[in-house]
Amino acid sequence: MTRRSLIAGNWKMNGTRASLGELRAMVDAARGGLSASVDLLVCPPATLLSAAVEAAGEVLALGGQDCHTAASGAHTGDVSAPMLADLGARFVIVGHSERRADHGETDALVAAKAKAAWDAGLVAVICIGETEAERKGGETLSVLGRQLAASVPDGATGANTVIAYEPVWAIGTGLTPTVADVADAHAFMRRTLEERFGAGEGGAVRLLYGGSVKPSNAAELLAVANVDGALVGGASLKAADFIAICEAAP
Ligand code: G3H
Repeated sequence: MTRRSLIAGNWKMNGTRASLGELRAMVDAARGGLSASVDLLVCPPATLLSAAVEAAGEVLALGGQDCHTAASGAHTGDVSAPMLADLGARFVIVGHSERRADHGETDALVAAKAKAAWDAGLVAVICIGETEAERKGGETLSVLGRQLAASVPDGATGANTVIAYEPVWAIGTGLTPTVADVADAHAFMRRTLEERFGAGEGGAVRLLYGGSVKPSNAAELLAVANVDGALVGGASLKAADFIAICEAAP
């Protein structure tokens, strides 16, 4: 199964209009040839999405960082998937560990958000990953299995879903799992998806690795079997770093 690499930047709660210069530099690099082999995605804060879509043109996709389960209604401060789609977003991250921790999001809620994303025509980037305590307890694969079962709704396909494996302890810490551990986790996720959705769709869902990806470690992480790209936090805020990671994709 051939899957195109996807390098996704998650700006988290960072960036003002001044940051669009970084996005424009990414777009210029993509126009220079990067996008021929790699799909590029940036998920800025919702406040920048509209301007980012205008700056990005066709070479770089934009996405939201979260969406509500409902399409509209009395949910002060929330953003719905149709609103993101209306601005030109094509993807939305759901179930990021920071939302699971900060907002108590459960697997069931994440699955409902993924369905809301699909209903709006967006690709859901569903995040899963074990905590440090779970890793130390030898529970990594069982946690991933449980999260895949409960956070990924029935009906997932290669076209509507991307899974991001982000060990919680690796996010923003400079720590990464060994290449062998990443390989084990991604092989397990691939097997699990193929068993549930069949070799066709389960084999087509792209599996990203996330957690302290930077230019210096991107090549070895992206070379691992079943690692189809990366979900990049801090290093996606600077165009030079993000471009270097994109250039490391096979
Ligand atoms: O969504 C991105 C991840 O949480 C990774 O963040 O690259 O800053 O470790 P990081």
